[in-house]
Amino acid sequence: MNWEANWIKPVGDYGDVCPAFVREFTFEKDIPQEAVLTVTAMGMYEAVLNGTRISDYIFAPGWTSRKRLQYQTYDIRPLLRKENTLVITVGKGWLRSPLAGWIDNSKSDPRLLLPPGLCARMSFSHGEDIETDVHWRVRESPVRFSELYDGETYDARITDAPPALEAVAVFPGPGCALVPQQGEEIRQQNRLHPAKLFQTPKGETVIDFGQNLTGYIALDLPPATEAGDAVALSFAEVLDAQGNFYTENYRGAKSKMNYICKKGSQQYTPKFTFFGFRYVRVDAFPVAPEASFFTAIALHSELERVGFFACSHPLVNRLYENVVWGQKGNFLDVPTDCPQRDERLGWTGDAQVFIKTAAYIYDVEKFFVKWLTDLSLDQEENGQVPHVIPNAMPGEGGSAAWGDAVTICPWELYLAYGEREILARQFESMRKWVDYITAHTTEENLWMGGRHFGDWLSTGETQTRPDFIASAFYARSTALVIKAGKLLGKDVAPYEALHAHIVAAFRDAFPGYHTQTEYVLALHFGLARGDCREVARALAEQIKADGNRMTTGFVGTPYLLHELSKHGHLELAYDLLLREAYPSWLYPVTRGATTIWERWDSIKPDGSFQDAGMNSFNHYAYGAVVDWLYSVAAGIQSVEAFPGYERVEIAPRPDARLGWLCAQYKTRRGWVRSKWQYTGDGIRYDIETPVPAEIVIGDATYRVEKGSYTYVVC
Ligand code: BGC
Repeated sequence: MNWEANWIKPVGDYGDVCPAFVREFTFEKDIPQEAVLTVTAMGMYEAVLNGTRISDYIFAPGWTSRKRLQYQTYDIRPLLRKENTLVITVGKGWLRSPLAGWIDNSKSDPRLLLPPGLCARMSFSHGEDIETDVHWRVRESPVRFSELYDGETYDARITDAPPALEAVAVFPGPGCALVPQQGEEIRQQNRLHPAKLFQTPKGETVIDFGQNLTGYIALDLPPATEAGDAVALSFAEVLDAQGNFYTENYRGAKSKMNYICKKGSQQYTPKFTFFGFRYVRVDAFPVAPEASFFTAIALHSELERVGFFACSHPLVNRLYENVVWGQKGNFLDVPTDCPQRDERLGWTGDAQVFIKTAAYIYDVEKFFVKWLTDLSLDQEENGQVPHVIPNAMPGEGGSAAWGDAVTICPWELYLAYGEREILARQFESMRKWVDYITAHTTEENLWMGGRHFGDWLSTGETQTRPDFIASAFYARSTALVIKAGKLLGKDVAPYEALHAHIVAAFRDAFPGYHTQTEYVLALHFGLARGDCREVARALAEQIKADGNRMTTGFVGTPYLLHELSKHGHLELAYDLLLREAYPSWLYPVTRGATTIWERWDSIKPDGSFQDAGMNSFNHYAYGAVVDWLYSVAAGIQSVEAFPGYERVEIAPRPDARLGWLCAQYKTRRGWVRSKWQYTGDGIRYDIETPVPAEIVIGDATYRVEKGSYTYVVC
């Protein structure tokens, strides 16, 4: 239900200072039995009633397409008194901070000229509503500066001596629909204490939190603090080879936390900014810094954890934990590429690559339904899908494998949660994308031409042909439009004909494969001509010829192990999984990684860094291997004919190099558990299913009802 109320803004220009809007109100008689605050802002807001924050929601109202803005509704009855003061501070947030640092540094983006608007209404069980209007007042808050990339400056002295209240003006607001909160709220999650506080070789004081994370620091200052003392903190993900603090890979993001103290002990956490970090450098502090003054707080959307995994191999377990931390750190309301440099955007390709894994770890239905709503809103009229959603790079879009998030994400959600409604909501958007490709290709039935990211960050000497990738995804998206359309009772005959033509044209245009990714896409999307086992054998040989290592980038990597294990090369799939030398999933783990790196060699084997221009240490894309751990190694798979785990297939595929492995996944119908263990004289499988299941152990298939089952194979 859309909502409306007056918008207000300060009459004066507050520059970088975040305004605090104030409304005092009194109840002459009884305090109302019911009281609700509905609120949103242009940027981010923090609402405090009678000195207490009204909600745990961090960074409300969240991040959406500019075509809409979420509002939130809070029960404020417990905080009401006879005499009340409501203070709502408004920061720049995603709406008004510079985004995509490399294109916005001219500050010419009209978003940056938007005022800090506030729109709120309190409704009571008796008495008149109080709405934002000229009876509100505003003043400078202690937040002197706050932007997403550059950090925050807070002057605590202002809390003791607030500036005078000033007038507000009513204005039209952002001119978009106000919609209710759709996704999960962002909340403070893990709290981490310093693993160590130390001096670097350069003599700088640095705190190591032992884990790369997304969030900020909670400061706890000792009683000896004087008014005007300064705290200055810098953030970093890694130390360089010499053990010094390294921030070059943040690019333009200054990422600073500056705090000016009032007198005495005090606490502070930033209001409207976050950092991607493991290390904190203490640039200024009133007293000798002690570890106990600092707590790292991880922030992410409040998602329900549904998946757990462990096995006998410590490095694989750490890899898994790194993927979980990658998801935490990049699921702040929007699935982002990374959380630290001047980027942090909802890159469609990254989301597409990772969604299946994401759904095995957290319940992501609501999260992605929100994002896909924004995708539909920001999709161009002609069907082009922007590179990032919400669209912070207007005019840029239309890359194969990135734009295909439009079809792949709804389909993966449908398989995981079984809701046809998701497909119904997204169908037009899916169809428009396929029509866009049809209208823009230079050759009928293939996708030739266009500007694509290709097999991003692949390591092979031979590059996967962009036209190959584009045409393969054209086939894939068309196939998904057909599947979705049939389920929804649509006439998809034209798309069926198109798909048949694409497959035929693809086979003629690309009779042979030059890279691992080309083999993998041809197999995974049903485009390979002839016997798939022969094609997979050639893929295995290609891997051998490439030095027994993968060369795949963002596009090929998610499907690589699947295509090997599916077509008789399980051992090779495990070889790649367990490989520790560069390039491999475990190489970063051997180098101490606590999240997934953007590149296979973000730290090169010689200890030096990859190019700082593109070197994030918290990029979940390559973490997509986790879906193979669940669906093949542990064997827990959704069944297309029974989506949402109405039935499940459990087909574990063990390897003796892992003595045991277990995974559990909470479907909407209960927990599926799969464990296997080498016992010395055979393999024991323990399986639990909440629904009828097909259990495949080696060559034997068992059709079972819900229950727990044990199989021993000697
Ligand atoms: C992002 C990627 C993204 C890519 C497009 C990068 O800057 O960090 O993850 O998919 O651009 O190729």
